[in-house]
Amino acid sequence: MTVDVWDAHAAQRLAGEPPRRLPPPGRMEWTQRSGIGPGAEILGDDLAGRRIVELGCGPGHNTAYLASLGAVAVGIDSSRGQIHRATAHYGYTGAEFACSTASAHLSHDRRRLDAVVSVFGAIGLAEPFKLLYACSRSLNRHGVLAFSVPHPQRTGAVPVNPRTREQLILPDGTSAVVKRWDAAPAAWVRALNRSGLLVTGVHHLCAPADARRPTTLLITARKP
Ligand SMILES: C[S@@+](CC[C@H](N)C(=O)[O-])C[C@H]1O[C@@H](n2cnc3c(N)ncnc32)[C@H](O)[C@@H]1O
Repeated sequence: MTVDVWDAHAAQRLAGEPPRRLPPPGRMEWTQRSGIGPGAEILGDDLAGRRIVELGCGPGHNTAYLASLGAVAVGIDSSRGQIHRATAHYGYTGAEFACSTASAHLSHDRRRLDAVVSVFGAIGLAEPFKLLYACSRSLNRHGVLAFSVPHPQRTGAVPVNPRTREQLILPDGTSAVVKRWDAAPAAWVRALNRSGLLVTGVHHLCAPADARRPTTLLITARKP
């Protein structure tokens, strides 16, 4: 089960690196390398006071960065271990962290959001239609959804069936299988439109910058 994989990942990281306060990063990162592609400006010009939720925040660095800009930033993760790491590292920044699945959080917390983000997080780790619909319902008018997923063409061809399984190497060197929704950009655009959002950007990012193929698909959409 996917949650167990991320709990195992968190437990191994915690064993090797006892939790301590970390400074938030200097920018919002949508890829797994630093300094590639746009930053938080795709969420709006001034994020101070904006209510933003990150779905699948992992160790919490991007949520902490958004809090450092003055946003009311909440990181959600279904793994207790990841939330333990995020709180230990960045709880002091004012960022909030909570253990929940993305769908449960969006359906229980009815406060409207200015932005929803996911960085290789909950969006893309399961069939996305219900979750995109929940994001759309949670957003304020003109609110922004921005998410990045592994680029479907990273290995050459877009998978014929978007339900894929990927091998994840855990910190201790063992491997685990992660289920993914590996859809083509046009399929993401259709799913976003069906959930009531207008797509405002589709970015094909290479991380590292000299990669032969795009590695990260970053999509932004807006609630009309
Ligand atoms: C690849 S990690 C990315 C973590 C972080 N966003 C980053 O950039 O380092 C995926 C994270 O999504 C979380 N996750 C997976 N499915 C989820 C769901 N349905 N709801 C909330 N979190 C989820 C996992 O527990 C894991 O921490």
